[in-house]
Amino acid sequence: MKAWSERVRREGARIGFVPTMGYFHEGHLALMRRAKELADKVVVSIFVNPIQFGPKEDFKTYPRDLERDARMAEEVGVDVLFSPPVEEMYPPSFQTFVEVTELSKPLCGAKRPGHFRGVATVVLKLFNIVSPQLAVFGLKDYQQYLVIKQMVRDLNLDVEIVGHPIVREEDGLAMSSRNTYLSPAERQSARCLYQALCLAQKRIKEGVQDVPVLKEELERFILAHPFTKIDYVEFCDPETLAPVARVEQETLLALAVFVGRARLIDNTILKP
Ligand code: PAF
Repeated sequence: MKAWSERVRREGARIGFVPTMGYFHEGHLALMRRAKELADKVVVSIFVNPIQFGPKEDFKTYPRDLERDARMAEEVGVDVLFSPPVEEMYPPSFQTFVEVTELSKPLCGAKRPGHFRGVATVVLKLFNIVSPQLAVFGLKDYQQYLVIKQMVRDLNLDVEIVGHPIVREEDGLAMSSRNTYLSPAERQSARCLYQALCLAQKRIKEGVQDVPVLKEELERFILAHPFTKIDYVEFCDPETLAPVARVEQETLLALAVFVGRARLIDNTILKP
């Protein structure tokens, strides 16, 4: 991988990179297409990164299908699919980690200890191996996008980070490889995440700005759907992720909801 990147860069080409954990859907393909628009060559990595999963999380069962992914990536015109084995990324002697301290604390960081340390570490490793000039990340993982941007700034990396809007199913459900965990009945319930985001925006338009009031209403709405369990419903500053008490300026509304065994996340920037 390194030799290819070195050669391509020497020839003057700009490398766009899309790091993924595979099991592609339209959301991944949109990131690849965006990278193709912005760069001369596109590298996509598939690596289910063990160090970003908690001990009780779905590392072992995370969906994988390399052959199908390879076909899909080829159809989009990806130049290189990079899928390193775990033992090569983390040999037994491995002992160095990257931590973006503050942005990793709230939201998913609070619920999934060590998750963003695992994400930042693997993304830095992948950046060092692939040497891209730009990398595209989906905004469904909004906190991840902020963490990576901060890491790039703090460690003076020469990679431009591009955020790509959330890609949704027709009924609004944000695309995710974890949607495959949903039974047909759970899939119906899962629509409530996007509907909750829309409800919040509607209530704000109606003049409701108080976050505890909005939160209570959204939680009630979500829990009225079968199979749901709320992990968090948070209103935060879209840059620092500090909690806000009133929606008086652009505010990130971030949700994490279990629907059956699938932990789904979604978010929007609310406009008062
Ligand atoms: O968003 C993901 O799929 C992963 O967190 C990433 C960025 C590929 C790192 O493992």
